[in-house]
Amino acid sequence: MVKKSTVTPDEKQLDSPLTLPKTTRSLLIQAIAIQLVSAAIVWLCLPFALPDTVFTLPAILAGLTLLHALLAGLLSWLWASPQWWHLIHTLVPICLYAAYQAHLPGWLYLLLFLITLLLYWNTARNRVPLYLSNIATCDELAKLLPQGAHFADLGSGTGRVLKHLAKLRPDCQFSGFETAPLTYFYSRWSCRMYPNIVMHRESFERRTLHEFNVLYAFLSPQPMPSLWQKLQTEKKAAQLLISNSFIVPGVKPRKVCKIADRRQTTLYLYDVK
Ligand SMILES: C[S@@+](CC[C@H](N)C(=O)[O-])C[C@H]1O[C@@H](n2cnc3c(N)ncnc32)[C@H](O)[C@@H]1O
Repeated sequence: MVKKSTVTPDEKQLDSPLTLPKTTRSLLIQAIAIQLVSAAIVWLCLPFALPDTVFTLPAILAGLTLLHALLAGLLSWLWASPQWWHLIHTLVPICLYAAYQAHLPGWLYLLLFLITLLLYWNTARNRVPLYLSNIATCDELAKLLPQGAHFADLGSGTGRVLKHLAKLRPDCQFSGFETAPLTYFYSRWSCRMYPNIVMHRESFERRTLHEFNVLYAFLSPQPMPSLWQKLQTEKKAAQLLISNSFIVPGVKPRKVCKIADRRQTTLYLYDVK
């Protein structure tokens, strides 16, 4: 069920240009916390020869981990990070300590790092992580497509939107642009049976998009201004940009669709002129 709304989108979705990117800020928070803990070890603990029987090495390590966790959480709060980051910063040192205690093999860390890298290829640069549109949103998109449309999913993830739409709207053509290697190869493999889907392992930022009537973006606040700027310079008549959740700052959408799903998805429809 869809409710139509004319509410002006909240422009506060964008960070102030003066704030550091969240990734840099998060690394700094953990780095400062570990430096403070190291300083505490050097200046406070080492001068005292504590008997082994009172403080064993595991007990000292556990105590320092707890100190690191509390400091990181505190720094996150002082730096006004979003609330859920306080918890992440507090849990990271504790999880690392638990992994260290579990004596996991070294290659496992490398494997996890590689999987994360291949999934979140661009995230540090353009702050677009992987999260997927739900089926209610795909159903609504299917209703919004004009007859015979050529639809492009800008950052197509696992290809879920493309596959769902290709089934519901066999009259339309679908293209997906995806740069993260793992999701690209998975989506290419899983879309192979759909004759009306073409996958591109290419950034939509580097590609002209005027061959498509309908563009779908489920990205983040970060790339929206440059995406809009790009579409303005390409000048194609009667092109529709549908953005899931994120507004184009300073541009009034032609229509806003609120979907009655659990996450209260909002689709912003912009006419590209
Ligand atoms: C939030 S997910 C959305 C996935 C899919 N569109 C959906 O709605 O289920 C965004 C995807 O865009 C990809 N991405 C980010 N920037 C991109 C770019 N410049 N070109 C192509 N893909 C990009 C990311 O790797 C990620 O898989």
